[in-house]
Amino acid sequence: MATKTCILHVLSLIMFICLPLSKCIHFNFPAVFNFGDSNSDTGELIASGIESLVPPNGETYFQTPSGRYCDGRLIIDFLMDAMDLPFLNAYLDSIGVPSFRKGCNFATAGSTILPATATSVSPFSFGIQVAQFLRFKARVIELIAKSKKFEKYLPKEEYFDEALYMFDIGQNDLAGAFYSKSLDQILASIPTILVEFENGIKKLYDQGARNFWIHNTGPFGCLPQNVARFGTDPSKLDELGCLSAQNQAAKLFNIQLHALCIKLQAQYVDANVTFVDIFNIKFNLIANYSRYGFEQPIMACCGYGGPPLNYDSRISCGQTKILNGTSATAKGCSDSTEYVNWDGIHYTEAANQYVSSQILTGKYSDPPFAEKMPFLLKLKF
Ligand SMILES: *[C@@H]1O[C@H](CO)[C@@H](O)[C@H](O)[C@H]1NC(C)=O
Ligand SMILES: *[C@@H]1O[C@H](CO)[C@@H](O)[C@H](O)[C@H]1NC(C)=O
Ligand SMILES: *[C@@H]1O[C@H](CO)[C@@H](O)[C@H](O)[C@H]1NC(C)=O
Repeated sequence: MATKTCILHVLSLIMFICLPLSKCIHFNFPAVFNFGDSNSDTGELIASGIESLVPPNGETYFQTPSGRYCDGRLIIDFLMDAMDLPFLNAYLDSIGVPSFRKGCNFATAGSTILPATATSVSPFSFGIQVAQFLRFKARVIELIAKSKKFEKYLPKEEYFDEALYMFDIGQNDLAGAFYSKSLDQILASIPTILVEFENGIKKLYDQGARNFWIHNTGPFGCLPQNVARFGTDPSKLDELGCLSAQNQAAKLFNIQLHALCIKLQAQYVDANVTFVDIFNIKFNLIANYSRYGFEQPIMACCGYGGPPLNYDSRISCGQTKILNGTSATAKGCSDSTEYVNWDGIHYTEAANQYVSSQILTGKYSDPPFAEKMPFLLKLKF
C-alpha cells in the first residue's frame, strides 16, 4: 500500500511538472521495445544459456549478476527509470514470472547487425531480433484475444503502435571486423551493414512502430579489449591512448547512421526518428574524466594484469584460471565509481549513469529535445 501511494504521488508530481511543457506528452510511452548488443542487454545472452556471468558482475546495484555485463545498471535501465517504466525483461527470460507489460528487450550481448556466422558470440543478430519481435507481437495478440488473465503480463495491442523502439547496435560489426579485415575494407563495408539495419527498421515500421530512438556507436577504440589486442604499437594510439583506426571506423559509421536517420525521418512523415550521439558523450567522458569525478578513463575495474589496462583476454571479470602454473583471478577494483570501464569491454554503472544524464539533457540528440523532457528533473540517482 505504501509503495502504491508513493507511486501515485510521484505520478501526480510528474503531471504537475509536465503541464507547462507543451511537448512532454510525447515521452509518455506505454512500453519500450529494445534491440541491440551488450550495451543494452538486460539478460538475454545469459538467459539463452550461451554464456554465464559471475560476481562481481552486478555487485553495485543488483548485488548479484543480473544478466548485464556491468557492475550495475546500463544506460537502458537509467532511461527506463527516467521514463517511469520498469527495467526491461529479456525476451528469453522465462523464469520468475517475467512481465512484458511495459515492453521487451531483444538486445543480446555479442550481437551484430549483419547476420551471425558460426563463430559469432550471439546467434541473435539484428534480423533475428526483429524476427523475435514479430513473433512476440503475434503471440501477444493471439494470447490477449484468448484470455484476460494475460493482461497483467503482456502489452495491450495498441502499445505496439505507441511504444518507443530503441536501438543500440553496430559496435560488434565494426570491432569484430578488425580481427580479420583492413581499415579500408571495414570502412567500405559500412553501407552494407546499414542496409541490413534499415531493412529491420522498415519491418518494424510496417508493423506499426512509429517512435524510433537510435543510439550511435561509441568510441570502441578506447576499450581495453581492443587497446590490448591492437595497440601494442604506440603509433596506433591517439593522445588519449585510444586506437585511432577503430574510432575512425566508429565515426564514419555514425555519420552514415545519422544520414540514414535523416532519410528515414523524411520518408516516414508520420514517425519520429531520434538519433542520439553516444560517441561524443563517451569520448568527452574519456577525455575529460576527472571533471566528471572519475580517476581511470581507460583501465578496466574488473580484470587481470594491472595497469595500464588491467585486461587479459584469457580471463573475464570474476573468473579464475591457471596461467603458467599459477592461479590468476580477474578481480573487481575497490571502488568502481572511479572507473569508466568495468570489464575491459563494457562501462561501469557510474559511467552509464553519467552517459544517461547527458542523453537526458537532449543536447546530443537530433532532433534535440531540451524543452520536451518531463523527466530531466527526476533522475533517481
Ligand atoms: C512526433 O512528434 C511530434 C512533435 O513532437 C508530435 O506532434 C507527433 O505526435 C509525434 N508522432 C508520433 C507518431 O508520436
Ligand atoms: C573536454 O572538455 C573541453 C572543455 O569543455 C572541451 O572543449 C573538449 O571538447 C572536451 N573534449 C572532448 C573530447 O569532448
Ligand atoms: C608465462 O611464462 C612465460 C615464460 O616464462 C612468460 O614469457 C610469460 O610472460 C608468462 N605469462 C604470464 C601470463 O605470466
